[in-house]
Amino acid sequence: MASYVAAIDQGTTSTRCMIFDHSGQVVAVDQMEHRQIFPRAGWVEHEPAEIWSNTRQVCAGALAKADLVASEIAACGITNQRETTVVWEKDTGKPVYNAIVWQDTRTDEIVNRLAAEGGQNLFHQQTGLTLSPYFSATKLRWILDNVDGVRERAEKGELLFGNMDTWVLWNSTGGPDGGLHVTDPTNASRTLLMDLRSLQWDPDICREIGIPMAMLPEIRSSSEVYGRFRERGVFGGIPIAGILGDQQAATFGQACLSPGEAKNTYGTGNFLLLNTGTEPVLSNNGLLTTVGYKIGTNETVYCLEGSIAVTGSLVQWLRDNLGLIATAPEIEQVARSVDDNGGAYFVPAFSGLFAPHWRSDARGAIVGLTRYVNRGHLARAVLEATAFQTREIVEAMNADSGVPLKSLKVDGGMVGNELLMQFQADILGVPVIRPVVAETTALGAAYAAGLAVGFWEGEADIRTNWAKDKQWDPAMPADLRERQYQQWQKAVTKTFGWVE
Ligand code: G3P
Repeated sequence: MASYVAAIDQGTTSTRCMIFDHSGQVVAVDQMEHRQIFPRAGWVEHEPAEIWSNTRQVCAGALAKADLVASEIAACGITNQRETTVVWEKDTGKPVYNAIVWQDTRTDEIVNRLAAEGGQNLFHQQTGLTLSPYFSATKLRWILDNVDGVRERAEKGELLFGNMDTWVLWNSTGGPDGGLHVTDPTNASRTLLMDLRSLQWDPDICREIGIPMAMLPEIRSSSEVYGRFRERGVFGGIPIAGILGDQQAATFGQACLSPGEAKNTYGTGNFLLLNTGTEPVLSNNGLLTTVGYKIGTNETVYCLEGSIAVTGSLVQWLRDNLGLIATAPEIEQVARSVDDNGGAYFVPAFSGLFAPHWRSDARGAIVGLTRYVNRGHLARAVLEATAFQTREIVEAMNADSGVPLKSLKVDGGMVGNELLMQFQADILGVPVIRPVVAETTALGAAYAAGLAVGFWEGEADIRTNWAKDKQWDPAMPADLRERQYQQWQKAVTKTFGWVE
């Protein structure tokens, strides 16, 4: 009897495999980082072959650490960095170009051309998304336009497009030898090519953006048995039974299963998702409408999303590009060496600004500098940037929903930082709550897979497994909170229009 469920989490900086037991506890985890390729300012790429090789290794690693064999795993789910775009040859599995990562802004011009025709909200009604280089469609268009012979070959059906979920699934299920070319609605809803209500590719949008539909994967639900790992591999024979984009997986893993429930994940970027129920709600305040999950034949659940491009990756930048800290966790200790930000505000508009501004012409800035400002103040400004950006998203959510958020469930790498969590509660004015299992992304994908094979019976199991670890209550006087937030908003405006 299989007593465990696995999940592959193919993220922006690393790939992980995690194994969970029936109570949702982590049994084993293995993780490998991959190379971040920056060919020019604003360009970010990954090598798909490296990611697939890492995926196989971490699956083997997790199984070995848990001291299990494949037959003890009931099912495996896949979750992934969303939007990142790969095109490969159907016959060989060879990518025609590196994966263009969600943070990449090279398609600015394509976006501006489209926006000139119909405005920023050209496809908002159908897709729930605003026009931005963030989504897959213009990245795919760039590959079609810039890599020799790709358009002709795509039209002939020789090339396949996928996000990282599809790349991992296709390779896991046989690659050129019968690999499944499938995605789920959560990932498809981030391409700018899927109709939110029908959950199918929109032929008119594909035509307008110039995407041959022959290269698009089939959209299936987020929880069903798609196929099995090829027999010869480490996970040989295990059913692959769940696919969720990583932010939607975290929402599911955090048990945000009723309208009005929200979570904020602190990863490379921050992504705040609010469950809005079975009807898509379009935002008037710069948020995205996205598919939350579709479990088998159940009704589709939608979310409003506030996406922030740079939060945790700003800490990495401080470590790798400036050498101001030696390790990421060290930032907390450096920030604690001072009482406040000393007047400095850091707006990390490295990929422009995402929600709620959607300004691809913005670039990063540190403002408020004086000779008084030291390393500690800068470390604080870096952490505070995450909390201030989250406040902007919460304000937009409150305006869209008309119901102010009462508390915020958090997860992801940065939630171990107590200084940040307290500041987050202070600047929002609502409690911030961290669950016992902070690995909610992988857990959410495991739940989707486990539900499909009957390992878990239903959503009640997910609610039962969720437990609170710690809560931070707001302690900052309201006038100080508002004064700081106003300064932040002023700082944000300084980054606009930097790129002509
Ligand atoms: O939309 C991008 C998001 O899916 C990336 O998440 O956790 O890999 O930074 P993460």
